[in-house]
Amino acid sequence: MQEEIINTKNEALAQIMEAGSFQELEDLRISYLGRNGKFTTLIKKIKELPSSRKKQAGISINEAKNTLLRALASQKNHLKASARVWFDPTVPGILPQIGHLHLVTQAIEEITRIFTQIGFVRVRYPEAEWDYYAFGGLNMPKEHPARDEWETFFVDVPHHPKFGQMVLTPHTSSGQIREMERTRPPIRMLNIAKCYRRQSDVSHYPMFHQFEGLVIDKNISIAHLKGTLDYFARNFFGPKRVTRLRPFHFQFTEPSFEVDVTCGVCLGKGCKLCKGGWLELGGAGMVHPNVLKAGGVDPKVYSGFAFGWGVERTYMMKSGLSIPDIRLLYSSDLRFLKQF
Ligand code: DAH
Repeated sequence: MQEEIINTKNEALAQIMEAGSFQELEDLRISYLGRNGKFTTLIKKIKELPSSRKKQAGISINEAKNTLLRALASQKNHLKASARVWFDPTVPGILPQIGHLHLVTQAIEEITRIFTQIGFVRVRYPEAEWDYYAFGGLNMPKEHPARDEWETFFVDVPHHPKFGQMVLTPHTSSGQIREMERTRPPIRMLNIAKCYRRQSDVSHYPMFHQFEGLVIDKNISIAHLKGTLDYFARNFFGPKRVTRLRPFHFQFTEPSFEVDVTCGVCLGKGCKLCKGGWLELGGAGMVHPNVLKAGGVDPKVYSGFAFGWGVERTYMMKSGLSIPDIRLLYSSDLRFLKQF
């Protein structure tokens, strides 16, 4: 009898814990404690027991009944509580806003990947720079007319006794002298930075980005420059694209070139889009001996090439994007930025 009581109690407890609704709990209560329930049947059996066992059986059954009543009540509370936080998995979710990198950041990352693959090291130099690094050291002494090319912002702080006035760097070429001061040849520098010029119209913004390459080693020639530019054109614009060098003038290179890339539509034959087959990328050249000297590098031992192009412009040429106003890039208008 004792064993039967314990087994019945355990069986009932297990089912109560599993019950998932009020109805199931009520059914269990009836089947164990109701008028014809299992415990009622056990109580009826007591009278068949020898009198010495009757008392103990009665106590055990009462205890078991109390335990079950408590379990029923607590499971009921549990169901009530979980009903309050009931989660409906069929309700559509709330989509979190997923952002992405800015168009220009994407371009910078791609340019960096291409050049670091052939051993260029990405560096960064001050945006508020001394005149000497931006101009003087680049073979543009004070009052030199070539300086007029850069519509420079001057910063109103005391002049540096040696390096002159402070400017917002108008081009990444300022990194050339800094890099030669930081390290010795062989140099393979990739300087990507913000540049500032006093200009604002549909194709200009006062702040923009340039990437500047500088390679200095023994016996560096125009062939190395051309090879590097073609490598970049193939990787950035596509396998069929090549570059050409057009003679030009910069104070800090000799000889100097403008670099063009074949048009992506006609591949150099000439079409309505490009008029002549080529699109203009930016400047390049062999580092001027005076610039090497300014950086403390002996031009009789070393030679080098450099190039410096606009990130925004180069990126737009790749994608064939015709952004009607470059200022949109920095307007923080999500309707525009989300498209890329
Ligand atoms: N710094 C020049 C500019 O902003 C671009 C440039 C031309 C950079 C020739 C170079 C170079 O490194 O060799 O217009």
